[in-house]
Amino acid sequence: MLKQLFPIQQELPLQGVYLALNLHQQAQQGDVFIYANYIVSLDGRIALFDEVMGEYAVPKSIANGRDWRLYQELAGQADVMLTSARYFRQLAEDKAQDLLPVGSGEKYADIKAWREKQGLKAQPDVMVLSNSLNIPLKALAKVQDRQVIVLTSSQDKSKIETLENAGAQVISVMSSAIETSRDPSTSLRVTGGFVRQSLIDLKYRSAYLIAGPQVHSTLMADSCVDELFLTTHFTLLGGTKVSGLVDVDLPQAQSMKLLSAYLDTQDNQMFQRFSYVG
Ligand SMILES: NC(=O)c1ccc[n+]([C@@H]2O[C@H](COP(=O)([O-])OP(=O)(O)OC[C@H]3O[C@@H](n4cnc5c(N)ncnc54)[C@H](OP(=O)(O)O)[C@@H]3O)[C@@H](O)[C@H]2O)c1
Repeated sequence: MLKQLFPIQQELPLQGVYLALNLHQQAQQGDVFIYANYIVSLDGRIALFDEVMGEYAVPKSIANGRDWRLYQELAGQADVMLTSARYFRQLAEDKAQDLLPVGSGEKYADIKAWREKQGLKAQPDVMVLSNSLNIPLKALAKVQDRQVIVLTSSQDKSKIETLENAGAQVISVMSSAIETSRDPSTSLRVTGGFVRQSLIDLKYRSAYLIAGPQVHSTLMADSCVDELFLTTHFTLLGGTKVSGLVDVDLPQAQSMKLLSAYLDTQDNQMFQRFSYVG
């Protein structure tokens, strides 16, 4: 059971607590609703550098099945998942946490059934941000059952062609600026605004941001994230090679409004939902 602390106080089962939100129906006409989700330690770490893997990873001491259940419920409501090329590089090496899915197996069967009932595709599509376009084809092959869209600032024709031949749709900021007669010199980066507009152009209504701090900062900088689902695990991780929710300078502090909070005494954590103010 969970103890809801805000905005009302009650006890309720974990299962279904986020699935009831209908995030796929939140966007205004012609818009998209973008929501992010992180699990964070009490000292603000979403990832630590893993010396064995040779890269940043979510520490096993905070990752847990109850948080993962809610991660899946959020995925269940998404038309598309927003992720990073780094995730695809991990996927190619079988190091990724999961296959960006609405999970397989009996545990998550209710979420799959719920999607079907809502008229959503069996799996959300995938939108990847990448400047390098170093996206292994081996990883793309693992998500062949859905549309993969790559947003990039790269103009490397050969890499773009390779990805397109593998079935991905590549949208480059430069060619998009030329098509829409915008000044290309102002469009050399994949900005939050560009991501949001691309999602709208592709008629997506709900997008689930599951990438790390760079992608999150990109979207936040243009006020393009609507809500944050944050699991705070009551653990101090310490460390010096660490990653947080936002690892860049912000033009100003971002105020957040708490929408709900649930205490999970079983796994020593709190599930909070915030909107980005302003
Ligand atoms: N605790 C949690 O809940 C949680 C959630 C998410 C991630 N994480 C962890 O955080 C760490 C970092 O995750 P991540 O690598 O997905 O995060 P990231 O820092 O958001 O993304 C890094 C990669 O995404 C691409 N990218 C980011 N912003 C871009 C932009 N504006 N334009 C074009 N490409 C852009 C770049 O790819 P290229 O190099 O190809 O150019 C970059 O290398 C990982 O260890 C992950 O496990 C933790």
